[in-house]
Amino acid sequence: MTIVDLGEYGADFVANPYPYYARLRDSGPVHEVRLPNGEEIWLIVGHEEARAALADPRLSKSPATVGGTMLDERVIGPNLLVLDPPDHTRLRRLVAREFTARRVEGLRPRIQQITDGLLDAMLPAGHGDLVDALAFPLPIIVICELLGVPAADREAFRKWSNEVVAPTGVAAEESAIHELAAYLNELIEDKRCAGPTDDLLSALIRTRAEDDDRLSAAELRALAYLLLIAGHETTVNLISNGVRALLAHPGQLAALRADFGLLDGTIEEMLRYDGPVETGTVRFTAAPVPVGDTVIPAGEAVLVGIAAGDHDPDRYPSPDRFDIRRDTQGHLAFGHGIHYCLGAPLARLEARIALRSLLERCPDLALDASAGTLDWLPGMLMRGVRRLPVRW
Ligand code: HEM
Repeated sequence: MTIVDLGEYGADFVANPYPYYARLRDSGPVHEVRLPNGEEIWLIVGHEEARAALADPRLSKSPATVGGTMLDERVIGPNLLVLDPPDHTRLRRLVAREFTARRVEGLRPRIQQITDGLLDAMLPAGHGDLVDALAFPLPIIVICELLGVPAADREAFRKWSNEVVAPTGVAAEESAIHELAAYLNELIEDKRCAGPTDDLLSALIRTRAEDDDRLSAAELRALAYLLLIAGHETTVNLISNGVRALLAHPGQLAALRADFGLLDGTIEEMLRYDGPVETGTVRFTAAPVPVGDTVIPAGEAVLVGIAAGDHDPDRYPSPDRFDIRRDTQGHLAFGHGIHYCLGAPLARLEARIALRSLLERCPDLALDASAGTLDWLPGMLMRGVRRLPVRW
């Protein structure tokens, strides 16, 4: 099988990978590819095959399967996305016990209040960057409050976290991870000394104090790291990619404005059509894994194409059409199987509140074409733009 060089497609692939994925899918559900950073890896592009792969225990999350480790794992600690059962099961249970539907639902009034405040500040200008004004600050304020992270630290945190999910270079990523580790150590120590409060991080610190067999210091630090990063980088892009799609489809926008009963379906279509996560986090074959007519040998690294799978015409007819009334069941935007996104209810709640409030308060909201071309996040993990110029 020949290796497909994704780097050759250049900036066009980063801006709109869907036609490239469609071409790959036409010649099979899995391919060996060379990523723009030179790394060679298997990429699954069919929906059925991607869904099966996400739930396949032969596809391990642990880099130790191929004798390696991740940089963040070495420096910060093992997080849920580099662990298999039984460690994954133990840690996921600990955090799921605290990160309950009740805790998320309890955030609703506060999410509305934060959204209203951000819109109050944004509206007088008449135009601006939606990422800066709403899509970034809302999720980061929410996740920082949920975890109990001081508001003053948000900007530094934003810089490190951007670098981790869409690295601009090896040295910059390394230094961001080291700075994050030092920051998390200090944060956990400060919270431990300050005594119990009602936030999620304090609850996890309490669990560790009660019984460190259940949660080591490195695991606690890695949980805080993953929740902080996964808790906002993704939701930023759900809001900004979603609003961009909606504003580019005036008929769909008008239908939603006429009937907010379509809101939940709209969010699901935003997730399917141009979700924030382009490929799942890397997996490793612990045994040979057949995908279609191809067998991925043991010991290989694999990316599951979430964006590619969610545009598979065998699963979603006319997949490149943005249709807020379509059946989006089974989309892969939040993953599938034991690593299914822990924050999905929170992300959906934030997106619903943000989108409805934005549309209600900005009846003339439109993309600001005069503001030039879009600046896409590099890499294949996250899909999104750094700035989304709009006017209202
Ligand atoms: C629109 C927003 C979001 C999207 C699209 C998203 C997407 C995903 C995906 C695709 C995975 C699975 C990755 C894989 O299997 O390789 C995942 C896992 C995870 N997400 Fe999210 N996420 C979002 C928001 C959030 C939020 C708000 C939080 C936390 C507050 C969160 C926390 C997590 C955690 C902890 C995991 C790891 C679960 C595990 O390994 O057991 N996510 N997310």
